[in-house]
Amino acid sequence: MPPTPQRPLFEDQEPETEPTAEDGWGAAVPQNPAAALAVVQEEVSECVRCSELARTRTQTVFGVGSPQARLCFLGEAPGADEDRQGEPFVGRAGQLLTKIIEACTLRREEVYILNTLKCRPPGNRNPAPLESENCREFLDRQLAIIQPEYICCLGAVAAKALLQIDGALGKMRGRFFRYRGAAVICTYHPAYLLRNPSAKRDVWEDMKMLMQEMGIDVETGQRS
Ligand code: URA
Repeated sequence: MPPTPQRPLFEDQEPETEPTAEDGWGAAVPQNPAAALAVVQEEVSECVRCSELARTRTQTVFGVGSPQARLCFLGEAPGADEDRQGEPFVGRAGQLLTKIIEACTLRREEVYILNTLKCRPPGNRNPAPLESENCREFLDRQLAIIQPEYICCLGAVAAKALLQIDGALGKMRGRFFRYRGAAVICTYHPAYLLRNPSAKRDVWEDMKMLMQEMGIDVETGQRS
C-alpha cells in the first residue's frame, strides 16, 4: 500500500476537472499498448492540421518510454534538438529532466515522456491555442493507451493545456489534480530551472510528494 498522503489528494479543483464516480480512462488498457501507440504515432507523422508546423518541422516528436508507465511527464512542445532527433526532452532541459527522473530512483525507460504538441513551434514560441486544440486528440489517445496512474505536468503551458486551468505555476504546485484516471502534479519546467536554479529545491519537493504517493522511497529506491 502506498503511504497515506499528508494532505487530501484533490484540493480546490475547478469543477470541470473535479473527480467523479465516472472518472477514469473509460476503456480497458489495450492488449498491446506498444502496437496501439505505433498506430497513433503513424497518424501523427502524417498530420498537417497545423499548416505552419507541418511545413517547418523536421519531423514529428511523438513520445518515448514505457507504454505501460505508471508515470508520464508532460512537456510543452519539441524544441530544436527534439525536432532534429525525433525524441522529446533530449536537449539541455531534457538532460536535466533525466537527472530529475534518476533522482527519483526511476529510469527514463520506465516512465513515458510526451508533449502537448508533437511539432516544434518555429522559434520555440509557445503553442498557439488552435495548435493545442488540433493536437489534443493525439495527446488524449496516447494517455488513454498508456493509462498512467500519475502525470507530472512540466510548466504552466502543459498544466493549462491538460487541466484547462489558468494561473501561475507556483499556485498549481503542492497538490494533486485529477485528469481522467490519473493523479496529476504540476511543477516547474526543466528549461525554467536552467534559468532559475534556485527553483530546483521546489521541484525536488514536488517530486518527493509524488514519489511518496507512488510508494517509492527516494532514499533507498524501495517500492511499496
Ligand atoms: N521542452 C519541452 O517542453 N519539450 C521538449 O520535448 C523539449 C523541451
